Amino acid sequence: MGGFVITGVPDRQTKFEGKITFYLVICAVIAATGGLMFGYDIGISGGVTSMDSFLLKFFPSVYYKKKHVKEDNYCKYDDHKLQLFTSSLYLAALVSCFFASAMCRRFGRKLTIQISSVFFFIGVILNVRANDLHMLIAGRILLGIGVGFANQAVPLFLSEIAPFHIRGGLNILFQLNITIGILVANVVNYYASKSLLYGWKFSLGLAGVPALILCIGSFLITETPTSLIQHGRSADGLEVLKKIRGTHNVEAEFQEILQASEAASLVERPFMSIFRRSSFPQLVIGSLLQFFQQFTGINAIMFYAPVLFEAIGFKSHASLLSAVAIGTVNLIGSVVSLLAVDKVGRKLLLLEGCLQMFLSMAAIGAVLVANGQQNQPLDNDSAMGVVMFAALFVSGFAWSWGPLAWLIPSEIFPLETRTAGYAVAVSSNMLFTFVIAQIYLSMLCRMRAGVFFFFSMWIAIMGIFVAVFLPETKNIPMDEMVARVWKKHWYWKRYMDDGTRSLKMEALYDAYSY
Ligand code: BGC
Repeated sequence: MGGFVITGVPDRQTKFEGKITFYLVICAVIAATGGLMFGYDIGISGGVTSMDSFLLKFFPSVYYKKKHVKEDNYCKYDDHKLQLFTSSLYLAALVSCFFASAMCRRFGRKLTIQISSVFFFIGVILNVRANDLHMLIAGRILLGIGVGFANQAVPLFLSEIAPFHIRGGLNILFQLNITIGILVANVVNYYASKSLLYGWKFSLGLAGVPALILCIGSFLITETPTSLIQHGRSADGLEVLKKIRGTHNVEAEFQEILQASEAASLVERPFMSIFRRSSFPQLVIGSLLQFFQQFTGINAIMFYAPVLFEAIGFKSHASLLSAVAIGTVNLIGSVVSLLAVDKVGRKLLLLEGCLQMFLSMAAIGAVLVANGQQNQPLDNDSAMGVVMFAALFVSGFAWSWGPLAWLIPSEIFPLETRTAGYAVAVSSNMLFTFVIAQIYLSMLCRMRAGVFFFFSMWIAIMGIFVAVFLPETKNIPMDEMVARVWKKHWYWKRYMDDGTRSLKMEALYDAYSY
């Protein structure tokens, strides 16, 4: 690795040159299909758990409850095993992303992405061949490991190959794929439940398609320049940088990655260093964003949209159709985010999202309260009202908390703690997704419409957090975050000088404090 030389820092506009090259786009589009696997899973769970053939085979007691006309609408799906089916995947993912983080650091982002697709594919095979609940859950666990690996490696990969001025948009390709996956799953559910005896096998089996796309496609993508340089392959890193930027003039960016990687190599135990004081701000923000993302209540709608719509009186097919409509809104919302994020910035999108989600969640609660009776379906107007407010909620989420909870943690950590810090964020996401998947149906049964007010309360709290504590990271190169964001933030700067970094590291960071 090169010597300890801090180069002068010329004007940023001329410093980082680069076009949006065809190869960059190909790499980003292929890697982002990792989001398809995650999204397809999110969408398929709610669908299969409302299919009679599936319930009859694996959850006969829920099937009986469902058919029992006198059962309270809000409670007919409240079953722990059924919730375990949905949430086991997230438990597996939350553990596996720590292994994925170690793998990303030691063997690179690309191999981690490839391995994710293999785990996922084996999980699909187990699911399709499942004869009993054990095999079904075993399959879900393998899918979860695949999701953990992909969610760890893909957003990091995207952020690291992106030129800084379009990093947000490129990273949001991941969320875009999540929303495509959810939508496809909703459509598949709709047709599978309508016309197929073994609809659930078909629905679960199709999850193999995104895994195959990712596995085959991943042979075409590059390793990120950062990862190559970090592994001492500076010459390869330089070549890849030239190729994805479409210019030979990449010296300034190359130097910056080289310095970041030199600073990273001074850290002996990278995983432990995320627990030092100066990592506290990124760690808190990375994990809190995940908690908040899940406590918007998004998955109350995503996992259980068909179940929710059925609970308020739609027929089974009508509820799947409404879920398809919601999935479409979700997809369109993430395209909006992709186009806006590098122009209007992260904070504004998050704040607007909060306002929109707060109002629509409260409105859903109000409609349900106004319709008091638990065993009667909602009248037509109220049912339409719920679907419309749910769509409004989902669009607000789709251009704010959905993509940004993945983007922000992938860009705020310095290189030495990046993979470990991001693993904490991903596992927090999985943990809180698990919690919501596990408790939501019980909450709906016990709190009834109150559950929607509960989520609105959290949305208000997260809005305040963003306004006060979240720094803006738009248009700031990743390796300049410490100097230009954290050391300058009115609150977080007090955590930066904890004396745990050597003078040499401080100098490497401060090179960019203009
Ligand atoms: C979240 C998922 C959610 C999805 C909806 C993702 O960003 O992590 O939990 O279901 O967005 O589009």
